[in-house]
Amino acid sequence: MILVTGATGNLGKATIDSLINRGVSPNNITALVRDENKSAELRLKGLQIKIGDYQDFESLQSAFRGVDRLLLVSSSADISKRFEQHKNVINAAKESRVGHLIYTSFDMIDLQQSVMGDEVLYHARTADYLKRSAIPYTLMDNTMYADMIPFLIGKDILNNGVSIPAGDGRTPFLPISEMAEANAVILTTRGHENKEYVISAETAFSFAEIADLLSDITGKTITYHQPELSTYIAQLILTGASEDDAAYIARFAGAIARGEFDTNKSDVKKLLGRSPVNLKDFLQSIYS
Ligand SMILES: NC(=O)c1ccc[n+]([C@@H]2O[C@H](COP(=O)([O-])OP(=O)(O)OC[C@H]3O[C@@H](n4cnc5c(N)ncnc54)[C@H](OP(=O)(O)O)[C@@H]3O)[C@@H](O)[C@H]2O)c1
Repeated sequence: MILVTGATGNLGKATIDSLINRGVSPNNITALVRDENKSAELRLKGLQIKIGDYQDFESLQSAFRGVDRLLLVSSSADISKRFEQHKNVINAAKESRVGHLIYTSFDMIDLQQSVMGDEVLYHARTADYLKRSAIPYTLMDNTMYADMIPFLIGKDILNNGVSIPAGDGRTPFLPISEMAEANAVILTTRGHENKEYVISAETAFSFAEIADLLSDITGKTITYHQPELSTYIAQLILTGASEDDAAYIARFAGAIARGEFDTNKSDVKKLLGRSPVNLKDFLQSIYS
C-alpha cells in the first residue's frame, strides 16, 4: 500500500494522478486527508481515505498501519510548527513499520546558510531526523515551482512587465506536474532507498531571461524591472497574498537574487527517462 500525504494539495493530488497514470490501482493508494469534507474527489477516484493530521500523532499511527511506502509532502503550517509535525509523521511511520518514507525537501545551495533562515532550515532538520530514524528514506529536493511564476511576477505582464526584485539570480523552475511524476517513479520502482535526488529543471533562468521568453511567447516586448521591496510586497498583496505570505515570498525573491536556487544539478531526466518540460513550453501553456 502506498500512502500519500497532502493529498488535497497541489503536489499530493498531482502525485496521485501520476501514480494512477502509471498503472497503480487506486485501491492500492491511500490518501491522508485532515478534513473529511475535502475527500469527496479522492473517494470518487477509488482511493482509500485515512483521516490524519500531522499535529495529531495518534491519527497518524492508525492511518499508517499496513503502509509500505509513504510520501510525506512537507507541511504548509506556520513555519515554527513544521519540523515538529514532520517528526510526528516520521515517528508514526517508524512505529507502524513503514518500509520506505519519501520526503519532499527543498533544493538550495545550502539550506543551513540561506538568507531565509528558519523558513527553509526545517527541511534540513527533517532530512537529518529522517536519516537518523533508520527508516529507508528518499529525499526529493524540490526546486521552486514553475507554477508560482505568474504569482511572483505580477498581473498584466503586457502592461506592467515582469516585476520582482530578484536581481540576476537564476532558478531552475520546474512544474509541479513534473515533480509529481518524479514522486510516482520513486513510489513505484526499486533502488531509491537512502538516496537524495535534485528535482529541478536542467536549465536555470533569471527573471530577465523569463521576460525574454514571455516576449517571444506574447509577441510583445516584456520588460523586467525590480520594484522596491515594499512596493513588491504591496503587489503580492494585490495579487491575493496575506501580509505575512507577501513578506515571506519577498524574502524568496531575495534568496533568488543571491543565486541560492542555482544549484546546477538535476536528477529529473535520470528518474523520468526523458528531459523535463522546458520552461518556455510551460509558460506558453499559461500565457498564450
Ligand atoms: N517548491 C516550491 O516552490 C513550493 C511552493 C509552495 C509550497 N511548497 C511546500 O511544498 C508543500 C506542498 O506544496 P503544495 O503546493 O502541494 O501545497 P498545498 O497545495 O498548500 O498543499 C499542502 C497539503 O498539506 C496538507 N496539510 C497541511 N498541514 C497539514 C497537517 N497539519 N496535517 C495533514 N495535512 C496537512 C494540506 O491539507 P489541507 O488541504 O487540509 O490544507 C494540503 O493537502 C507545501 O506544503 C510547502 O511546504 C513548496
